[in-house]
Amino acid sequence: MAREERGTLVLDAALPGDMARAADILRAGGLVAFPTETVYGLGADGLNPDAVRRIFVAKGRPADNPLILHLDGPEMLGRVAQHIPAQAERLMAAFWPGPLTLVLERRPEVPDAVTAGLDTVAVRCPDHPVARELIAEVGRPLAAPSANRSGRPSPTRAEDVLEDLAGRIDAVLDGGPTGLGIESTVLDLTVDPPALLRPGGVPLEDLREFLPRVVAVGEATGPVRSPGMKYAHYAPRAYLVLVEGPEEAVAAEIRRLAAKYRQDGRTVAILAVTGQAYPGETVLRLGPPGHWHEIAASLYRTLRELDRRGIEVALAEGIPRAGLGLAIMDRLERAAREVISTGGTKC
Ligand code: TXA
Ligand code: MG
Repeated sequence: MAREERGTLVLDAALPGDMARAADILRAGGLVAFPTETVYGLGADGLNPDAVRRIFVAKGRPADNPLILHLDGPEMLGRVAQHIPAQAERLMAAFWPGPLTLVLERRPEVPDAVTAGLDTVAVRCPDHPVARELIAEVGRPLAAPSANRSGRPSPTRAEDVLEDLAGRIDAVLDGGPTGLGIESTVLDLTVDPPALLRPGGVPLEDLREFLPRVVAVGEATGPVRSPGMKYAHYAPRAYLVLVEGPEEAVAAEIRRLAAKYRQDGRTVAILAVTGQAYPGETVLRLGPPGHWHEIAASLYRTLRELDRRGIEVALAEGIPRAGLGLAIMDRLERAAREVISTGGTKC
């Protein structure tokens, strides 16, 4: 018998009976969270508008934010997208299954609830056996945003999903922790030049080998970096300050801020990615310096850990915006209430 938590079934992806049950719930228009190689997704039958609408209610997600359709392979693509450009075929051959989402021209069969009324649709083929098997068993594309309450860090474990959504969704299919830990790269191929809408698991440098003219929207316009700015994304309850610049200057600023906030009576933790020493401080190390995969994999879990420990102020070290670092910094910036550039040159 599967366990229930506050009315949400906890299914085990290793049990064939549980996989079949998850597929049944989805076919009947229910909501099932499932693992992908990036983060857990909150799945619904992507061609059933009522089921898709339930996703927005469960997450508290604004209806104007469209969803990604998850496919079990390029063969399913023709059911949801049309006029697929040759460059899409090349990218799919190179990066699918994997963390690359392509924005393409939609087919009319795709519900407006999925695309938020846009004439485009976002699609990806996840590189996770549980996700692929589930989609194949349902036999339809699954609409799936990250399975967190809107604004919270994305879930990388079934328990993170339950923390946010128990009692609000029918089931979570537990397939263990996700490997990559950060969402897919979102690339819009309906504009010329192609536009990177969200940095993610496939680095921009890898895309450039196929699309030399790709423009990074964030990079092109320059992220807002003023103190006091407020992003409602990926955010822990803790007041997060991101400090960027040369390593020594960042460490010095973080030591100064830690002392200041502690003096104000706040509990402080440091999110560290370099080998800098912070004697006497609570340090949550995201990974060893330069190990970007490990840092990405621990990022959201660590942001949630801050809340579990009741940390009030988190001071995060910035990293170079190269490779996976571009996506990691994007998430840290959006989670931060304040971004401080220190020591002149940016890192
Ligand atoms: O790794 C991922 O992509 C995860 C897993 C579960 O697959 N999913 C995910 O979904 O991160 P979500 O909903 O949290 O983020 C989807 C992003 C949003 O930024 C959304 O605005 C964008 O993709 N998006 C979806 N459809 C779009 C469209 N037609 N045009 C432009 N952007 C779109
Ligand atoms: Mg999300």
